[in-house]
Amino acid sequence: MDSIIVKGNGPLNGQIPIAGAKNACLTLMPVTLLTEEPVVLTNVPRLTDITTMSDLLRSFGAEVTAALDGQELTLHSGAITNHTAEYEIVRKFRASFFVLGPMLAREGQAVVSLPGGCAIGARPVDLHLKGLEALGAVMELRDGYVHATAPGGLHGGTHEFPFVSVGATENLLMAATLAKGTTVLKNAAREPEVVDLAKCLSAMGAQIDGAGTSTITIQGVARLHGTTHPVVVDRIELGTYMLAPAIAGGSVELLGGRLDLVRAFAEKLQVAGISVAETHNGLLVSQNNGRVRAVDVKTEPHPGFPTDLQAQMMALLCTADGVSVLEETIFENRFMHAPELARMGADIEVHGGHATVTGVEKLRGAPVMATDLRASVSLILAGLAAEGETVLSRVYHLDRGYERVEEKLSACGASIQRVTDDG
Ligand code: EPZ
Repeated sequence: MDSIIVKGNGPLNGQIPIAGAKNACLTLMPVTLLTEEPVVLTNVPRLTDITTMSDLLRSFGAEVTAALDGQELTLHSGAITNHTAEYEIVRKFRASFFVLGPMLAREGQAVVSLPGGCAIGARPVDLHLKGLEALGAVMELRDGYVHATAPGGLHGGTHEFPFVSVGATENLLMAATLAKGTTVLKNAAREPEVVDLAKCLSAMGAQIDGAGTSTITIQGVARLHGTTHPVVVDRIELGTYMLAPAIAGGSVELLGGRLDLVRAFAEKLQVAGISVAETHNGLLVSQNNGRVRAVDVKTEPHPGFPTDLQAQMMALLCTADGVSVLEETIFENRFMHAPELARMGADIEVHGGHATVTGVEKLRGAPVMATDLRASVSLILAGLAAEGETVLSRVYHLDRGYERVEEKLSACGASIQRVTDDG
């Protein structure tokens, strides 16, 4: 099993290219189930989750062909030969549940394993099921699987989500494109990945208004055609690498970075004393004024502060000048990185959904363990400014959402390497 060794190595300087968004790609790939024509995705990130989604779609009879070293995918579902998403695949990654809506819309039937919980929370799928039922689906839970049918096809309707869910919004948005009549989704998620999905579906002939707002209206159509769609830049990878010079000092340009995707996050960095500037190629982040200032953070649905950057922000605040309070409002168990940061000398107190971080002068390297995707990269960021060596194990968590971390950071002067333990 691989591990990654990071040593504090002083300020970082250079450029880091930002890839396409994992969380956009994972909802864009299932759109292939909505048409018999090929869909081409460009700017695809090279991640294990993308490979797993490709395998899942192939299990339904789709052809998935990679090109350009995996950065381009052609997805073609000429015919669906299997309607079941097996537990063995679904348990590996939750996004596989995003096939339910499109499969139901096209085929009128789908059998999808319930995903079960994960490290950061119980993560039920009740909003997905209730939403699809509002469009005429019939759901039956049996032996850990959702058996879904849509006798007579899906129909439009007005559905209000009790609270914001990115995945449930995406599942219903895809399903509603082929439903008879008009669907209005209220209290919908406004995340850039939802906007990117709507953009792709519209290019396939779907009739969608209001993506990016809380109310999305979809006029169902009889069929969708193929398209070529560039995956939006990954705002979470972007935010993660914006924190590298913030933590280690220096100046790094994030190529392809867009301020509009990370506004709430960038504002918090500026309050902490970090400079964020737009450039011709992206964003330039600089931090050359010693210790950053403490700031309080509360995670919220977009356009609020993203929960997927909370762990990385905590790594920064561990050496801030003062006391910061982080409030996690999206997931009930998303402070697993705190005890690992404490192993590096951080001073963190967690009470339910609040973490109080008292900044220390310097962290020290230590052996630490990744517990989930974002926690893993927060430990690498902390290691960039720590004294001595940080050894991160369970790196498979990281590979799910970050491509070529070592290359990207060492190109800016970081001391970071992956070691493979063949034991
Ligand atoms: C998406 O997950 C992202 N994953 C997550 O990123 C991200 O943290 C999350 O949105 C919030 O921004 C993908 O896009 C693949 P939700 P999703 O439905 O859709 C509860 C990462 O690190 N809920 O918006 O699963 C749920 O438990 C990952 O890349 C229900 O109770 O998130 C959570 O507390 C982690 N019932 C809250 O709502 C439901 O049916 C928000 O979840 C659905 C959700």
